[in-house]
Amino acid sequence: MVNSVRVAGVGMTPFGKSPERTAREMFADAADEAFEDADVPREVVDEVFYGNFMGTFAERQGHQGPMAAEAAGVIAPSTRVESACASAATAIRSGVNQIRGGQSDVVLIGGAERMTNLSTPEGTEALAAAADALWEVRSGITFPGAYSLMANRYFEEFGGTREDLAHIAVKNHEHAVDNDLAQFQMSIDVEDVLEATMVCSPFGLFDCSPMSDGASAAVLVSDEFAEEHDLDAPVEITGSGQHSDHFALADRASIPETPAAERAAKMAYEDAGIGPEDVDFLEVHDCFTIAEVLALEALGFYEPGEAITAARDGETWKDGKLPVNLSGGLKAKGHPVGATGGAQLSELTKLLRGDHVNSDAVEDAEVALAHNAGGTVASCVVHVLEVDE
Ligand code: COA
Repeated sequence: MVNSVRVAGVGMTPFGKSPERTAREMFADAADEAFEDADVPREVVDEVFYGNFMGTFAERQGHQGPMAAEAAGVIAPSTRVESACASAATAIRSGVNQIRGGQSDVVLIGGAERMTNLSTPEGTEALAAAADALWEVRSGITFPGAYSLMANRYFEEFGGTREDLAHIAVKNHEHAVDNDLAQFQMSIDVEDVLEATMVCSPFGLFDCSPMSDGASAAVLVSDEFAEEHDLDAPVEITGSGQHSDHFALADRASIPETPAAERAAKMAYEDAGIGPEDVDFLEVHDCFTIAEVLALEALGFYEPGEAITAARDGETWKDGKLPVNLSGGLKAKGHPVGATGGAQLSELTKLLRGDHVNSDAVEDAEVALAHNAGGTVASCVVHVLEVDE
């Protein structure tokens, strides 16, 4: 029988600018919080999976597996997991698989990224390593550039405007206003988005996630361990999926669609025995406003071409029929890339347990979903979380 996996405890640092702090210092803080929340001693950890993308460049630090374990005060096998911006969700999936396979009872997962010690051009160059070095980066593409191609192509194929995208940024900023862990806790309006400095058409400043520093962690345990130790761990990871797509955008059949997310979602839904109609709320990888649209369509909540108006119509707001990015998303909560998937798990767990500042919006919710993408969604990881009634 496959073991089921529970989230015993979560932790994350506030996301934002702390260029003087190393990734290991931030991860130590997130792990401390996760152990305290879990009420599990670090001595019983069987394995560590740590997500990080650009530390080799930003901190000149490789070999980060043992570094992360030591920072967390754990002596156990420890592996750095790298899948660009989906590094931490891939670390979560590694932990889930370990527990399900019976190799571990307690796994520490998470990730960290230090980005603002670099200038924006340096950070942009480091991030571009997640694109195809032979065909995309050589031709000068950066991530704002790649996603703007996806957005412009979406507009051409399905319609939509900069103003539709602006509503997504406005929503995600509004959701973050009371979230103390978020990088930007200020409201903005559609005009602010449309009048902001242009980054790469159609994206202005507020269509982009920022450069951020931060870390996330969680203690995952088997159901048996939770029962034996009488842990208060009401959230279960019931579905896990991961998939890939052509690495370079130019090789894809359709640029404004993300089949890696579609496939990862199919796996996660089948694993959990649910469909999109059962999901009450979710966190998606909105690294740029268009990414939220593409995610909602790939995950099966909207047909292609239809999610573009979801925020404008109020459907994905806190009080809408499908709240999306109640944490503020990558846009407003921040996006320290190697930590993001773990932060989604942390925010969703608190929302489901009822101890998040936005929990009121999802009081009776039972099922949540996390979508964490790497690069231009050449990789994607989806998890389904369910809370005990
Ligand atoms: N949203 C809102 N405000 C932002 C912001 C963002 N994305 N990025 C920066 N700011 C704010 C800063 O807080 C700062 O405000 P302050 O002057 O009040 O302190 C101001 O804008 C200037 O910040 P700065 O860091 O100098 O911005 P920049 O122009 O150098 O960089 C971007 C802005 C959008 C180009 C940069 O954040 C970026 O490249 N983001 C994308 C990151 C990315 O690609 N991630 C991977 C996704 S796959």
